[in-house]
Amino acid sequence: MSALLSLDHVSRRFSGLLALDDVSVSLKQGEIVGLIGPNGAGKTTFVNVISGVLKPTSGSVDFLGRSIGGLRPDLVARAGIARTFQIVQPFPRMTVRENVAAAALFAGSVPTRDEAGRDADAHLAFCGLTREADTPASSLTLAGRKRLELAKSLASKPKLLLLDEVNAGLNAAEIDDALRLISEIAGRGITVLLIEHLMKVVSQSCSRLLVLHQGRLIADGQTASVMQDQQVIEAYLGQRYARLKQESAI
Ligand SMILES: Nc1ncnc2c1ncn2[C@@H]1O[C@H](COP(=O)(O)OP(=O)(O)OP(=O)(O)O)[C@@H](O)[C@H]1O
Ligand SMILES: [Mg+2]
Repeated sequence: MSALLSLDHVSRRFSGLLALDDVSVSLKQGEIVGLIGPNGAGKTTFVNVISGVLKPTSGSVDFLGRSIGGLRPDLVARAGIARTFQIVQPFPRMTVRENVAAAALFAGSVPTRDEAGRDADAHLAFCGLTREADTPASSLTLAGRKRLELAKSLASKPKLLLLDEVNAGLNAAEIDDALRLISEIAGRGITVLLIEHLMKVVSQSCSRLLVLHQGRLIADGQTASVMQDQQVIEAYLGQRYARLKQESAI
Protein backbone atom coordinates (compact mmCIF):
# COMPACT_ATOMS: atom_id res chain seq x y z
CA MET A 1 0.00 0.00 0.00
CA SER A 2 1.37 3.44 -0.82
CA ALA A 3 2.22 5.83 2.00
CA LEU A 4 -0.33 8.28 3.36
CA LEU A 5 2.36 10.44 4.98
CA SER A 6 6.09 10.45 4.29
CA LEU A 7 8.85 12.38 6.00
CA ASP A 8 12.12 12.34 4.12
CA HIS A 9 15.27 13.43 5.99
CA VAL A 10 13.35 15.96 8.09
CA SER A 11 15.28 18.09 10.58
CA ARG A 12 14.15 20.96 12.78
CA ARG A 13 16.65 23.15 14.54
CA PHE A 14 16.04 25.63 17.39
CA SER A 15 19.21 27.73 17.31
CA GLY A 16 21.81 25.31 18.77
CA LEU A 17 19.42 22.42 19.35
CA LEU A 18 18.49 19.81 16.75
CA ALA A 19 15.00 18.86 17.98
CA LEU A 20 14.43 16.61 14.96
CA ASP A 21 17.52 15.09 13.41
CA ASP A 22 17.21 13.61 9.91
CA VAL A 23 13.93 11.74 10.46
CA SER A 24 12.61 9.60 7.62
CA VAL A 25 9.41 7.63 8.16
CA SER A 26 6.12 6.88 6.44
CA LEU A 27 2.65 5.98 7.67
CA LYS A 28 0.12 3.85 5.82
CA GLN A 29 -3.63 4.23 5.81
CA GLY A 30 -5.51 2.66 8.71
CA GLU A 31 -2.58 2.08 11.06
CA ILE A 32 -2.49 3.00 14.75
CA VAL A 33 1.15 3.91 15.28
CA GLY A 34 2.64 4.72 18.67
CA LEU A 35 5.34 7.35 19.13
CA ILE A 36 7.39 7.20 22.33
CA GLY A 37 10.57 8.74 23.66
CA PRO A 38 11.90 10.54 26.72
CA ASN A 39 10.89 14.10 27.61
CA GLY A 40 12.42 16.49 25.09
CA ALA A 41 12.98 13.72 22.50
CA GLY A 42 11.20 15.72 19.78
CA LYS A 43 7.73 14.09 19.76
CA THR A 44 5.71 17.32 19.88
CA THR A 45 8.12 18.93 17.41
CA PHE A 46 7.41 15.98 15.08
CA VAL A 47 3.67 16.71 15.30
CA ASN A 48 4.26 20.46 14.94
CA VAL A 49 6.30 19.98 11.77
CA ILE A 50 3.66 17.73 10.21
CA SER A 51 0.71 19.94 11.20
CA GLY A 52 2.27 23.17 9.91
CA VAL A 53 2.86 24.80 13.31
CA LEU A 54 6.60 24.66 12.58
CA LYS A 55 8.46 24.62 9.30
CA PRO A 56 11.07 21.89 8.87
CA THR A 57 14.59 23.32 8.74
CA SER A 58 15.33 20.77 6.03
CA GLY A 59 13.78 17.71 4.44
CA SER A 60 10.37 17.09 2.91
CA VAL A 61 6.93 16.17 4.22
CA ASP A 62 4.48 14.60 1.74
CA PHE A 63 0.84 13.78 2.39
CA LEU A 64 -1.19 11.88 -0.19
CA GLY A 65 1.57 12.47 -2.70
CA ARG A 66 1.60 16.24 -2.18
CA SER A 67 4.32 18.30 -0.51
CA ILE A 68 2.98 19.91 2.70
CA GLY A 69 6.25 20.86 4.46
CA GLY A 70 5.94 24.48 5.63
CA LEU A 71 2.26 24.81 4.66
CA ARG A 72 0.07 26.90 7.03
CA PRO A 73 -1.78 24.90 9.74
CA ASP A 74 -5.24 25.65 8.30
CA LEU A 75 -4.13 24.41 4.88
CA VAL A 76 -2.65 21.26 6.43
CA ALA A 77 -5.97 20.73 8.23
CA ARG A 78 -7.80 21.18 4.93
CA ALA A 79 -5.49 18.61 3.34
CA GLY A 80 -6.75 16.05 5.90
CA ILE A 81 -4.45 16.14 8.93
CA ALA A 82 -5.80 16.89 12.42
CA ARG A 83 -3.89 17.10 15.66
CA THR A 84 -4.63 17.47 19.33
CA PHE A 85 -2.54 19.63 21.65
CA GLN A 86 -0.53 18.25 24.57
CA ILE A 87 -1.73 21.26 26.56
CA VAL A 88 -5.44 21.40 25.73
CA GLN A 89 -6.49 24.84 24.65
CA PRO A 90 -10.20 25.27 23.93
CA PHE A 91 -11.72 28.73 23.57
CA PRO A 92 -12.80 28.90 27.24
CA ARG A 93 -15.84 31.16 26.93
CA MET A 94 -17.28 29.51 23.87
CA THR A 95 -19.56 26.55 24.44
CA VAL A 96 -18.35 23.05 23.82
CA ARG A 97 -20.46 22.91 20.62
CA GLU A 98 -19.10 26.25 19.40
CA ASN A 99 -15.53 25.03 19.92
CA VAL A 100 -16.15 22.01 17.71
CA ALA A 101 -17.99 24.08 15.08
CA ALA A 102 -15.10 26.57 15.01
CA ALA A 103 -12.66 23.72 14.38
CA ALA A 104 -14.78 22.55 11.42
CA LEU A 105 -14.89 26.06 9.95
CA PHE A 106 -11.11 26.45 10.48
CA ALA A 107 -10.50 23.29 8.49
CA GLY A 108 -13.09 24.19 5.85
CA SER A 109 -14.80 20.83 6.27
CA VAL A 110 -18.30 22.40 6.22
CA PRO A 111 -19.57 25.31 4.12
CA THR A 112 -21.81 27.11 6.66
CA ARG A 113 -22.05 27.85 10.39
CA ASP A 114 -25.39 25.99 10.58
CA GLU A 115 -23.89 22.91 9.10
CA ALA A 116 -20.88 23.24 11.39
CA GLY A 117 -23.26 23.24 14.39
CA ARG A 118 -25.12 20.13 13.19
CA ASP A 119 -21.86 18.35 12.47
CA ALA A 120 -20.54 19.36 15.87
CA ASP A 121 -23.48 17.63 17.57
CA ALA A 122 -22.64 14.36 15.81
CA HIS A 123 -19.00 14.59 16.87
CA LEU A 124 -19.98 15.47 20.44
CA ALA A 125 -22.32 12.46 20.59
CA PHE A 126 -19.51 10.23 19.32
CA CYS A 127 -17.16 11.57 21.98
CA GLY A 128 -19.73 11.37 24.79
CA LEU A 129 -20.12 15.12 25.25
CA THR A 130 -23.76 15.66 24.29
CA ARG A 131 -24.79 16.72 27.79
CA GLU A 132 -22.03 19.32 27.92
CA ALA A 133 -22.71 20.79 24.43
CA ASP A 134 -24.15 24.09 25.70
CA THR A 135 -21.77 24.63 28.61
CA PRO A 136 -18.65 26.81 28.34
CA ALA A 137 -15.55 24.79 27.49
CA SER A 138 -13.88 26.18 30.63
CA SER A 139 -16.30 24.18 32.82
CA LEU A 140 -15.15 20.78 31.51
CA THR A 141 -13.03 18.42 33.59
CA LEU A 142 -9.59 17.45 32.23
CA ALA A 143 -11.08 14.23 30.78
CA GLY A 144 -13.87 16.31 29.20
CA ARG A 145 -11.34 18.72 27.69
CA LYS A 146 -9.37 15.82 26.25
CA ARG A 147 -12.57 14.44 24.68
CA LEU A 148 -13.31 17.93 23.33
CA GLU A 149 -9.86 17.89 21.70
CA LEU A 150 -10.84 14.64 19.99
CA ALA A 151 -14.24 16.02 18.87
CA LYS A 152 -12.52 19.15 17.49
CA SER A 153 -9.99 17.11 15.59
CA LEU A 154 -12.71 14.88 14.10
CA ALA A 155 -14.63 17.99 12.99
CA SER A 156 -12.05 18.59 10.29
CA LYS A 157 -12.85 15.14 8.82
CA PRO A 158 -9.21 14.04 8.86
CA LYS A 159 -7.50 11.13 7.16
CA LEU A 160 -4.65 11.34 9.66
CA LEU A 161 -5.01 12.14 13.34
CA LEU A 162 -2.00 13.09 15.47
CA LEU A 163 -2.74 12.64 19.18
CA ASP A 164 -0.26 14.32 21.52
CA GLU A 165 -0.60 12.67 24.94
CA VAL A 166 -4.41 12.57 24.96
CA ASN A 167 -4.31 10.25 27.97
CA ALA A 168 -1.94 12.27 30.15
CA GLY A 169 -3.48 13.03 33.55
CA LEU A 170 -6.47 10.71 33.08
CA ASN A 171 -7.39 7.90 35.48
CA ALA A 172 -7.54 4.25 34.41
CA ALA A 173 -11.28 4.27 33.60
CA GLU A 174 -10.95 7.51 31.62
CA ILE A 175 -8.02 6.05 29.68
CA ASP A 176 -10.08 2.95 28.83
CA ASP A 177 -12.86 5.23 27.50
CA ALA A 178 -10.36 7.26 25.45
CA LEU A 179 -8.80 4.10 23.99
CA ARG A 180 -12.22 2.78 22.98
CA LEU A 181 -12.84 6.05 21.16
CA ILE A 182 -9.44 5.93 19.47
CA SER A 183 -9.98 2.40 18.25
CA GLU A 184 -13.43 3.39 16.89
CA ILE A 185 -11.78 6.32 15.12
CA ALA A 186 -9.21 3.97 13.56
CA GLY A 187 -12.12 1.67 12.64
CA ARG A 188 -13.42 4.48 10.46
CA GLY A 189 -10.22 4.18 8.40
CA ILE A 190 -8.50 7.18 9.98
CA THR A 191 -4.77 6.68 10.52
CA VAL A 192 -3.78 7.48 14.11
CA LEU A 193 -0.39 8.50 15.48
CA LEU A 194 -0.50 8.19 19.25
CA ILE A 195 2.14 9.95 21.35
CA GLU A 196 2.06 8.18 24.66
CA HIS A 197 4.11 7.66 27.80
CA LEU A 198 2.08 4.73 29.13
CA MET A 199 3.63 1.55 27.77
CA LYS A 200 0.55 -0.47 28.67
CA VAL A 201 -1.52 1.73 26.34
CA VAL A 202 1.06 1.50 23.56
CA SER A 203 1.34 -2.26 23.78
CA GLN A 204 -2.46 -2.67 23.76
CA SER A 205 -3.33 -0.16 21.05
CA CYS A 206 -0.46 0.17 18.60
CA SER A 207 0.61 -2.43 16.06
CA ARG A 208 3.65 -0.36 15.16
CA LEU A 209 5.93 1.74 17.32
CA LEU A 210 8.29 4.63 16.56
CA VAL A 211 10.90 5.74 19.07
CA LEU A 212 12.51 9.18 19.12
CA HIS A 213 15.61 9.87 21.19
CA GLN A 214 17.40 13.23 21.09
CA GLY A 215 15.62 14.05 17.84
CA ARG A 216 16.63 10.86 16.09
CA LEU A 217 14.31 8.03 15.12
CA ILE A 218 16.07 5.12 16.80
CA ALA A 219 13.42 2.46 16.14
CA ASP A 220 10.48 1.80 13.83
CA GLY A 221 8.82 -1.60 13.75
CA GLN A 222 6.25 -3.94 15.23
CA THR A 223 5.47 -2.90 18.79
CA ALA A 224 6.50 -6.18 20.41
CA SER A 225 9.89 -6.28 18.70
CA VAL A 226 10.64 -2.57 19.27
CA MET A 227 9.94 -3.10 22.98
CA GLN A 228 12.67 -5.78 23.00
CA ASP A 229 15.19 -3.58 21.18
CA GLN A 230 18.28 -3.08 23.33
CA GLN A 231 18.85 0.52 22.20
CA VAL A 232 15.22 1.41 22.99
CA ILE A 233 15.38 -0.23 26.40
CA GLU A 234 18.55 1.69 27.22
CA ALA A 235 17.26 5.03 25.90
CA TYR A 236 13.79 4.93 27.34
CA LEU A 237 12.12 1.72 28.31
CA GLY A 238 14.37 0.50 31.12
CA GLN A 239 12.24 1.48 34.06
CA ARG A 240 8.91 1.64 32.25
CA TYR A 241 9.40 -1.82 30.75
CA ALA A 242 10.29 -3.32 34.09
CA ARG A 243 7.12 -1.75 35.50
CA LEU A 244 5.00 -3.14 32.66
CA LYS A 245 6.42 -6.63 33.23
CA GLN A 246 5.58 -6.29 36.91
CA GLU A 247 2.04 -5.16 36.08
CA SER A 248 1.42 -8.05 33.71
CA ALA A 249 2.84 -10.52 36.23
CA ILE A 250 0.25 -9.45 38.81
N1 LIG B 1 9.59 26.51 20.06
C1 LIG B 1 10.72 26.03 20.58
N2 LIG B 1 11.82 26.83 20.75
C2 LIG B 1 12.98 26.34 21.25
N3 LIG B 1 13.15 25.05 21.64
C3 LIG B 1 12.10 24.22 21.50
C4 LIG B 1 10.84 24.66 20.97
N4 LIG B 1 9.99 23.60 20.96
C5 LIG B 1 10.68 22.55 21.44
N5 LIG B 1 11.94 22.92 21.78
C6 LIG B 1 12.99 22.03 22.32
O1 LIG B 1 13.11 20.93 21.42
C7 LIG B 1 13.30 19.71 22.14
C8 LIG B 1 12.16 18.76 21.79
O2 LIG B 1 10.98 19.24 22.40
P1 LIG B 1 9.57 18.52 22.22
O3 LIG B 1 8.55 19.39 22.86
O4 LIG B 1 9.38 18.18 20.78
O5 LIG B 1 9.80 17.18 23.06
P2 LIG B 1 8.76 16.05 23.47
O6 LIG B 1 9.37 14.74 23.03
O7 LIG B 1 7.41 16.38 22.98
O8 LIG B 1 8.83 16.11 25.07
P3 LIG B 1 7.67 15.84 26.19
O9 LIG B 1 7.64 14.35 26.39
O10 LIG B 1 8.20 16.55 27.40
O11 LIG B 1 6.38 16.41 25.69
C9 LIG B 1 13.34 20.08 23.61
O12 LIG B 1 14.69 20.23 24.00
C10 LIG B 1 12.61 21.43 23.67
O13 LIG B 1 13.08 22.22 24.73
MG1 LIG C 1 5.63 16.76 23.89
